[in-house]
Amino acid sequence: MEPVDAHEEVHGVGRRARGGERLGGWGLMQAAGCCALSGYAVWALLLMPGFRRVPLRLQVPYLPASPQQVNNVMRLLGGRSGPLADLGSGDGRIVLEACRRGFSPAMGYELNPWLLAVSRLRAWRAGLRGRASFQRRDLWKVDLSNYDNVTVFLAPSVLHQLEHKLATELPDGARVVAGRFPLPTWAPAAQAGDGEHRAWLYHVQRSDGTHAEPGQLPGSHDKM
Ligand SMILES: C[S@@+](CC[C@H](N)C(=O)[O-])C[C@H]1O[C@@H](n2cnc3c(N)ncnc32)[C@H](O)[C@@H]1O
Repeated sequence: MEPVDAHEEVHGVGRRARGGERLGGWGLMQAAGCCALSGYAVWALLLMPGFRRVPLRLQVPYLPASPQQVNNVMRLLGGRSGPLADLGSGDGRIVLEACRRGFSPAMGYELNPWLLAVSRLRAWRAGLRGRASFQRRDLWKVDLSNYDNVTVFLAPSVLHQLEHKLATELPDGARVVAGRFPLPTWAPAAQAGDGEHRAWLYHVQRSDGTHAEPGQLPGSHDKM
């Protein structure tokens, strides 16, 4: 058996350890690269499909409303009934809850086919198939004139344009509830919840029966 050189042994281990650190650093970089790539794949394949024809500035990624947010939206719609549309309905949670609370028809408009499939499956499992519906439609192209109740949870960057659409299309007496981000120029009639779970209620009221311009819709500031 070869005699062991203690000095070489100690320094050899040190060198290997340092090599290991270098390998560890490289490994870390690889892991970070893999994470970034997987993140991008999830984003591109699952969260963003369906947006090919939507201008980049109007694309809003999927983020589900929290259970508290859903609850706050429903509190603000308390006592209401009739047709409801959720614009960008995600996995359908707002539409399904609205349907449970008697809104009819309860409709979700969504572009992402994966989320539509999930929504329909959830409706079927909840026994709400046929009462809660989901359509693959660009929300900017949906005619809202038949909806008395509209819910939205969209990015602040698109809300100004949304105000214009809501103001020109919704009927007198309609209600809009915005989750997480308020409409930029409309005065809310009430709000519910705090922080990221907050929701704002807006009344669509036109004294002359015509469509109002954004920023002209009245409202007080009740907190629920
Ligand atoms: C922030 S998520 C909200 C999801 C759901 N409303 C909720 O509260 O859980 C916004 C959703 O809008 C959808 N969306 C964005 N732009 C859209 C468009 N132009 N037409 C239809 N859906 C759209 C996205 O795919 C995403 O699911």
